[in-house]
Order: sequence, then structure tokens, then C-alpha cells
Amino acid sequence: MALKTAFQDYFKIGAALSGWDMKDEKHLDLVRREYNTFTCENDMKPMFFLDTEKNQADPETYKLNPAVCFDSAIPYLEFAKENGIAMRGHTLTWHNQTPKWFYYENYNEEGELADKQTMLTRLDNYIHSVLDFVQTRYPGIIYAWDVVNEAIDEGDFRKSTWYQICGKDFLFRAFESARKYAAPGVKLFYNDYETALDWKRDLIINEILIPLKERGLVDGMGMQSHLLMDHPDLGEYKKALEMYGALGLEVQITELDMHNADPSEESMHQLALRYKEFFRIYVDAKKNKTANITAVTFWNLVDEFTWLTFFRKETSYPLLFHKDCEPKEAYFKVLETVE
Ligand code: GLA
Repeated sequence: MALKTAFQDYFKIGAALSGWDMKDEKHLDLVRREYNTFTCENDMKPMFFLDTEKNQADPETYKLNPAVCFDSAIPYLEFAKENGIAMRGHTLTWHNQTPKWFYYENYNEEGELADKQTMLTRLDNYIHSVLDFVQTRYPGIIYAWDVVNEAIDEGDFRKSTWYQICGKDFLFRAFESARKYAAPGVKLFYNDYETALDWKRDLIINEILIPLKERGLVDGMGMQSHLLMDHPDLGEYKKALEMYGALGLEVQITELDMHNADPSEESMHQLALRYKEFFRIYVDAKKNKTANITAVTFWNLVDEFTWLTFFRKETSYPLLFHKDCEPKEAYFKVLETVE
């Protein structure tokens, strides 16, 4: 049975797709068969939407309302539309994969950083342009957005350029703008990694989710969940999931994978068993109403294309499929959680 069918009473199941997947019919068939949601791995990030040439050629015209170009997203939106698959939007505001020039006066990184008012206005207009485009051209396709990604680091708000210029206001403005421009029913998420660490979990809850929720600006918490074989601890992870769930927000597992550099049968068996334990947590949380999980998205499709091999500088085997989209033991173990 396909993943999307097996888990249909619980949550959507998805994967992150890249330009490589879009060119590979086997990969696209796998998506059509197994998943009912997907995320663009990269192609909807600010570095792809912000038009370098146009903004820099005419900063006077664009200084408050950045020029944008959505070509990178169109193949994904078309694929979603043709196949009736829902999409998560990722990501409107992030310190990474945002061009450096975007933060500067006249979009000139040799000069001065732009002031707070300018940046908050650019952010508002950028979010307006993105949402307007997807909602006008592809209505109903994107059901959730990661409005802000990874704002917490080292025990505090991350000292990103966004923070340096705007303080915490960049985060609140991003959610205000997203709420203002998002179509009714489109869910707004805060997304981060290592969300089971107690200090990080508490900061996210107290400094981000509760203040946003009080103002009706957030609908869900995104737990990225780039797992290791021995981290995080299952109990800590379950506790964090339930604490996010207790806020009355949706929870989505947004970037699930499990780094493992040993492809031996025994090691892949351990990977399968650990995946099963995580899925047991997800299904139980949903059944027992301790966290309203609405989607679980794997980060990439097949081992051969995982970002982890680059990130960890060693070949990784972290997913449910490999080679020509063949299912691994982990695929069958995950399915066992709903048998
Ligand atoms: C983070 C981001 C993702 C992606 C991964 C690496 O988790 O949220 O968009 O860049 O890193 O692929």
C-alpha cells in the first residue's frame, strides 16, 4: 500500500523535490504513487525569487517593493496542479539562501545596510508578491507556508542580518504580512531544526509561538526533524511534539531524514526500526490527540540524492527509497505502524 493511502486517516505524507527530481520520470512516478504533499527543496527560497538584475539595475523603482521572478517555481506548481498533489511553501523568510544585496540600501552591498523601516516594507511587499502570484495563478495548491525558518540559535534569537536590522520585529512582520495576504485556509508555520532540544523548544514556544498565537498569526509548528541514529532521544522528541501540540496549533514534520553513513544490512535494519519508532510517535500523537500532526514530509526522495551526503561530507543513506526508487526495509517498517 502506498504511504499516502496507509496514513490517510492520520496525516499527509510528502517529500522535498529538487530540479533533478523534476527531470526524472521515475522520481515523478514515485511522487505520484506514494505522496500527497511535497515541498520545493530550494526553488521557492528568496534567492530564487528575488530578481538580482532588475533590482540592482533600478533600485529607485524597486527599493521598497523588490522585483521578483517566479520562473523557478512554475514547474513544481504545474506538476502539483496536474497531479492533484498539495504543496507546502518553503520559505518566505530565512537568514540563509537570501541574497546579501537584499539587505542593503539601493541593493548595493558595497554601501550601507538598509534601515529597519525599509527592510520591513521590503519584507511586506515581497510576501505580498509571492502569495499573490501563487494564489492567483495556482489557487488552492499551496496549503501551508513556512513563514519564518530558523530564527532561534545559541540560546536566543539568531543574530542574522534580519535581526541585526529589525530585531525580533522581522519575524512578527513576516507573520502579519503572511496573514494579511494568505488566502483563507492557508496555514502559517514557524519552522526550525533541533526543535526537541529543551532550551530551543522553550524559546520557540515562549518567544515565538505563544506571542504569535495570541495575535492569531500562526497555525502550526514545523519540526524539521533531521534525525541521527542516536539523536534526538525519542522521549525528548515526543515530549517536544506534545508541548507544541498542547498549544492547540497544528504540527508538521517538515524535513524528515535520518543520517546514516553505513549501508550494511544491519545498519539499514536499525534505521528501519528507528523510523518505525518515530512513526509510532506520530500516529499515537494523532490518535490520542496529544498533537494534531497534519503532514509528515521527508527531505528528499531517494538516498542517492540526499542533501546529507554534501552536508555531512560522507555518503548518507537516510531515506525510505534508494537506487531506482526501490523501497528499503525502512519503507515497510514505517507502513507497519498502521497495519
Ligand atoms: C534546512 C532548510 C531546508 C534545506 C535544508 C538542507 O533544513 O530549512 O530548506 O535547505 O536545510 O537541504
